[in-house]
Amino acid sequence: MKKVVILASVLLGLSQAVAAQTGDAAKGKELSVTCSACHGADGNSAAPTFPKLAGLGEKYLLKQLQDIRDGARPVPTMVGQVDNMSDQQLADLAAFYASQARSGGQADPELVALGEKVYRAGVAERKVAACTACHSPNGKGNAPAGFPALAGQHAEYIAAQLKAYRKGYEDETGRTNDGDTMIMRTNAFGLSDKEIEAVASYASGLK
Ligand code: HEC
Ligand code: HEC
Repeated sequence: MKKVVILASVLLGLSQAVAAQTGDAAKGKELSVTCSACHGADGNSAAPTFPKLAGLGEKYLLKQLQDIRDGARPVPTMVGQVDNMSDQQLADLAAFYASQARSGGQADPELVALGEKVYRAGVAERKVAACTACHSPNGKGNAPAGFPALAGQHAEYIAAQLKAYRKGYEDETGRTNDGDTMIMRTNAFGLSDKEIEAVASYASGLK
């Protein structure tokens, strides 16, 4: 009998450990009600300064939510939104938004040539890697690797993030939550304002 109890509690412990890593999209949908004012009911926000969450990979979403909650990525607009949430609740939210289809974006025709060049080839002389390598040729990102989807995202938001990463290269008030590898800070540091505007517009229009 004792063995059965021990086995049962071990199994329960295991299932809880597994549950802590996999999100429940239905529970996430319930939790998302307060987010919808800014991010849209299905994660497709209307305002260009609020990122679309629909179609971002679960791994990337969970990391950002934890970083926002824990202060590694301060988002003043979101103060109080996720501060008291558990990892499980954040995983549920991530599962919900990852399961939603993302709406499309539109590139500015005048910026396509420069944007495409930066996106597909990078800027070798300034150590900017081609975005395709990680965010994929069609902008869908790489969900298992935690590389976010850019296709369809608001160009204004993409540009703001690139400027925040660029600032974070040498100033910690910029965006620094890309970790010790500094992948995005290094890439963004070599981009001019014009190149940021162009690559953001191009990536937004990818399908
Ligand atoms: C009052 C508006 C507002 C509300 C409400 C809000 N957010 Fe946000 N959220 C923002 C803004 C603005 C940003 C972008 C901040 C920046 O520029 O770095 C953001 C960024 C994010 C990001 C990062 C997206 C990315 O592409 O990296 C995630 C994830 C997120 N919010 C999830 C949520 C969730 C989940 C909720 C509800 C529990 C929520 N937000 C509620 C305004 C809001
Ligand atoms: C070596 C891989 C790699 C390359 C190359 C790369 N990125 Fe990224 N990018 C990442 C990773 C990883 C993140 C997420 C960092 C984090 O976890 O916070 C990211 C995040 C971003 C974000 C933030 C998205 C959001 O929703 O907030 C933008 C915008 C972005 N990258 C644009 C670009 C552009 C434009 C290029 C090309 C100039 C580029 N990236 C090249 C790996 C890469």
